[in-house]
Amino acid sequence: MTRQLLAGPPVGAGPENLAQHTARLGALPHVPGLITMLERAEVRGRGGAAFPTATKWRAVAQRSHGRAVVLANGAEGEPLSWKDRVLMESRPHLVLDGAALAAQAVRASEVVLYVGGAHAAALVSVRAALAERPQSEACRMRLVEAPDGYVSGEESAAVRFIDSGTALPTSTPPRPFERGVGGRPTLVQNVETLATAALLARGAAEASQLVTVAGAVRQPGVVEVTTAATVGDAVSMAGGSAARAQAVLLGGYFGGWVGAADAWGLPLDAAALRGRGLTLGCGVIAVLPDHRCGVAETAHIVRYLAGESARQCGPCVFGLGAVAVALERVAECRPQFGEMPRLRRWTSQLAGRGACHHPDGAAGLIASALGAFAAEFASHEAGWCAALSGRAAA
Ligand SMILES: Cc1cc2nc3c(=O)[nH]c(=O)nc-3n(C[C@H](O)[C@H](O)[C@H](O)COP(=O)(O)O)c2cc1C
Ligand code: SF4
Repeated sequence: MTRQLLAGPPVGAGPENLAQHTARLGALPHVPGLITMLERAEVRGRGGAAFPTATKWRAVAQRSHGRAVVLANGAEGEPLSWKDRVLMESRPHLVLDGAALAAQAVRASEVVLYVGGAHAAALVSVRAALAERPQSEACRMRLVEAPDGYVSGEESAAVRFIDSGTALPTSTPPRPFERGVGGRPTLVQNVETLATAALLARGAAEASQLVTVAGAVRQPGVVEVTTAATVGDAVSMAGGSAARAQAVLLGGYFGGWVGAADAWGLPLDAAALRGRGLTLGCGVIAVLPDHRCGVAETAHIVRYLAGESARQCGPCVFGLGAVAVALERVAECRPQFGEMPRLRRWTSQLAGRGACHHPDGAAGLIASALGAFAAEFASHEAGWCAALSGRAAA
């Protein structure tokens, strides 16, 4: 049985309150073997890295001694993702159930709901849901508004913000599962991952997942699929392509470009995608139509990522800005001498050198663009852009 995350009242009709939630799904059960259930269901994190959830819960439980913290990550700083705010807006109690179950499993004494300050409706919904639930003496739940910014949802930045008001990633180790909020072992888990745990605890045998379908589709929005679905299925659920598709950005700004012909049949299964060198990231599918330039889109995203970096490590301070400038020159069909080899070299030097994965994400995106838009990069180098010259009209 697949119990869906967004089952229940229509999404967009406001939050499901505690009475409705309990009438639909029953009271929150106590599930002693939940970590094993997560392991059997092969649940992976939905915040971007697709890390096996059970492994993380065990690591925190081992260190907890009853003082761990659960940090429910609803920062959702990725501009192409809406799934976390839709979930928090419409099914806040499912998220809170998941956080409460995680707290039981890792023996936490505190839950922090870290919700993007820009996601006003989600904040209202989570705040109201918290007020409806009796506070437990053993485990306190509180809400913290995450500041705007791409890196504020990174786990060490979230911990640092909660402790000191600065949402900047810290050099790791120790990682939050060892030493997080208030120096205590901290389970940082995306809100959708927690909601999934709440469904599994109620007997769902299979986990569904939320995907944001953006770009050139008829009904951009959030759809719910199983891992058996394909990229093409999700695009169909969003009304289908609104124009002839050129490529798909899979996984959001830290993801990668795939040519449209190769994209439709790809499975929405994090493990299977990883085997092909791809990522579903935080569950984003963005369709690029034929009349938009993939080189310019990539330059635009990298410029954004360069601006969003915390500017405290070498690759972000020295590398990302320079790569963004070079990409912009190529996008404008005015590359300097030797620009493309330099761009490739700089990109390969970005990854793995920052305190967080921000430069790695940017490097992966650029590398994918260099492959998916190889012909476009070559024509830009020669001073000509196919998309701007009306390829779609041809
Ligand atoms: C720059 C950056 C930004 C991130 N932003 C978010 C975010 O907004 N929400 C989120 O859940 N995870 C985000 N992550 C991933 C978190 O660091 C962490 O891996 C995640 O919250 C763990 O939850 P999960 O295992 O359920 O995915 C970000 C990572 C990086 C490197
Ligand atoms: S790698 Fe970049 S974004 Fe990450 S901590 Fe360092 S400067 Fe900040």
